[in-house]
Amino acid sequence: MKYGKHITMGIESSCDETAIALLADGTEILSNVISSQIEIHKEYGGVVPEIASRHHLNNIPFVFDRALKEAGVELKEVDEIGVTAGPGLAGALLMGTAFAKAVAAASGIPLVGVHHIQAHILANVIEHPFLEPPFLSLVVSGGHTHLIEVEGWNKFRVLGATRDDAVGEAYDKVARVIGLGYPGGPKVDALAKQGDPHAIEFKRVYLEKDSLDFSFSGTKTAVINYMHSAEQRGEEVKPADVAASFQQAVIVVLVNKAVRAAREAGYCELALAGGVACNSELRRQLGEALAKEGIGLYIPSPILCTDNGAMVAAAAYRKAREGHYASGRLDVFPNLNIETQLDLLDR
Ligand code: KG4
Ligand code: ZN
Repeated sequence: MKYGKHITMGIESSCDETAIALLADGTEILSNVISSQIEIHKEYGGVVPEIASRHHLNNIPFVFDRALKEAGVELKEVDEIGVTAGPGLAGALLMGTAFAKAVAAASGIPLVGVHHIQAHILANVIEHPFLEPPFLSLVVSGGHTHLIEVEGWNKFRVLGATRDDAVGEAYDKVARVIGLGYPGGPKVDALAKQGDPHAIEFKRVYLEKDSLDFSFSGTKTAVINYMHSAEQRGEEVKPADVAASFQQAVIVVLVNKAVRAAREAGYCELALAGGVACNSELRRQLGEALAKEGIGLYIPSPILCTDNGAMVAAAAYRKAREGHYASGRLDVFPNLNIETQLDLLDR
């Protein structure tokens, strides 16, 4: 124990960031090292799974050494090692879990398997340690869009999910068609600030009246069609207006459903999570709408919204306290269901 503190290591490799962090007492960040592969995948316009795995394999020992060094912690002081075991790219997950299992076996440090969305949600407690379940969470990332009831730190109920594209995926695609490159979310966010959100009425998809599910492929296709027909007609397009109008079309739906879910299920706290939680307009509009209802909004700092090791450590710390440990046989689960399959991580 460093200065009498409980130390958790968190390892994340489910997509294109190799990230390892050390957290003290589940809230204090001692180090949070993130090695991003964005520059490598940029060339291909998206993440190439095979390339991601190879880079994780090469990077992980260096990220591990740096995380310990920056924290000023020796491995023997670590109380548990948390690792993302799913969902995500199979090969990418294998690199993180194989490394975590090897370190755990060699050092005798207990291992904790973490669900990637669970980690995104628990990123909130690093800066808001008084947040306690039950509360509602809106998870918006490159791979997921979910409205989730957090019943406990290891118990979740999915109220709604996307039926097609994740919201971050739609942002990335729209960025590509308006020529902003990869990864598109932050670029659309920045450009939209100079555009008119009401310039173009892109499709807003609410699905059935009572549904808390999402669908973003129709809005994404509407943007693609708009760009193609403008090109065919030789009409000038204002990319900032397209970015702002697209954003508006998805954000109003996200805000509408989040507020409705909180109201119907009677929650007075909502935690936003995932990479798209960095989006300035979503943060602003969701904050305003929830404030009107008297519902508190929690959002992690941007560095804790996109993939990182600190969120995995935050989840592992709380899982370990509840006795959820993994064995040396921990497998990877590319499609791990957060509601029904968390027990697979405790074997
Ligand atoms: O959570 P994350 O790092 O990875 C997944 O678990 O998927 O999320 C990455 C996603 C990407 O789609 C990226 O474009 C999006 O988050 N993103 C944003 C912003 N920053 C990152 N989307 C909109 N606005 C942003 N500022
Ligand atoms: Zn993520």
